[in-house]
Amino acid sequence: MARVRLDNVTKVFPGGIRVLEGVDLTVDEGEFLVLVGPSGCGKSTVLRVIAGLEEATSGTVSFDGEVVDDLPPKERDIAMVFQNYALYPHLSVRDNLAFGMRLRHVPAPVREQRVLDVAQLLDIAELLDRKPKALSGGQRQRVAAGRAIVRNPRVLLMDEPLSNLDAQLRVTMRAELRRLHAEHRTTTVYVTHDQVEAMTLGDRVAVLEGGRVQQVGTPHDLYHRPVNAFVAGFIGSPSMNLAVVPVRAGAAPTMEVGGQLWPVPDTRVASVAALAGGPLLLGLRPDAFTWPAPDDAPALDVTVTAVEFLGNATLVLFEPPGEAWHPADDSDPSAGHWTARLDGDVPLQVGGRVTFGVDVDSAYLFEPDRGLALPCVEALAAVPA
Ligand SMILES: Nc1ncnc2c1ncn2[C@@H]1O[C@H](COP(=O)(O)OP(=O)(O)O)[C@@H](O)[C@H]1O
Ligand SMILES: [Mg+2]
Repeated sequence: MARVRLDNVTKVFPGGIRVLEGVDLTVDEGEFLVLVGPSGCGKSTVLRVIAGLEEATSGTVSFDGEVVDDLPPKERDIAMVFQNYALYPHLSVRDNLAFGMRLRHVPAPVREQRVLDVAQLLDIAELLDRKPKALSGGQRQRVAAGRAIVRNPRVLLMDEPLSNLDAQLRVTMRAELRRLHAEHRTTTVYVTHDQVEAMTLGDRVAVLEGGRVQQVGTPHDLYHRPVNAFVAGFIGSPSMNLAVVPVRAGAAPTMEVGGQLWPVPDTRVASVAALAGGPLLLGLRPDAFTWPAPDDAPALDVTVTAVEFLGNATLVLFEPPGEAWHPADDSDPSAGHWTARLDGDVPLQVGGRVTFGVDVDSAYLFEPDRGLALPCVEALAAVPA
């Protein structure tokens, strides 16, 4: 097991295609770090640079403080699992599992014991004599993960290993991967575009966008303290509602949202003052809304554009009270809409007007140019003068 560190890694492909920009990342020994971001943001390239399959244009990769830039992949002692589980079709599951160890001249008794251990752990002991074509997709992926782990590599790299599986199997496999990691504590970097997978699997999660690391933190940090509007909009489902709204400055500043004036939360008054009367980027999670609206709370009048009944909750989509800001995914069908998540079954009609109560204290505030989070007074107080 190793501690992995990327220092200021940049990757420019031939033709000047800049894919990674100054990536700094540390994966602690035994940690399960998830790298998440939209398609094309450079996730696989980061993994391939760690593996040595791709050379960084500048910057360094080190394992346990030792620079490995000049080591070829096979000398880095890493194992990799891909989306399309590349098992050897002519070998049995047992031989697939043992293959890497055989290459490394692990003695036969040790090899056999490790194969049996991991087969038991992954519940594939009855499948050891089968060929890959006689396995289901989930079983194959288990064998692929098992084959990587059984070798006991210094670093385990996984690139969207569950994307080919159906939703139910993905949930099961997530639990298995967590169990496997708890047992072996192999330093792991796991790539996915799926923020739910990232949040449920990662000890820490690194959010990548446009070849830059936006934020690294625990799932809790990313959800509650996103450093910018990209992370805020990317983490959480349904996505955070974002829109640019005008501010009325003063001792008790307010924001103007859908024709109503909402108080700026106390903790953000100082940082809103720093905007010097300019607009701010407002973020509200879908669960910041209540209906019917209580009498004394800030409210929002909207026109309903869609209603989605989920059983335990209802999603109500409506026109945003300002220009919607949607950084995460333009193909998202809810782009251009805001979403309220209400408990249970809610008798609202498409096209109808509705008044929501809004928990303004839960609002996230960003400056509108780069989308950087506005500091809270607690956070300001924590910074030494
Ligand atoms: N060998 C290559 N040559 C040129 N461009 C590449 C190469 N490999 C990847 N890219 C480009 O780099 C960007 C990031 O790719 P990748 O790391 O695979 O993203 P992700 O895994 O996040 O989807 C993409 O725009 C992709 O087209
Ligand atoms: Mg990829």
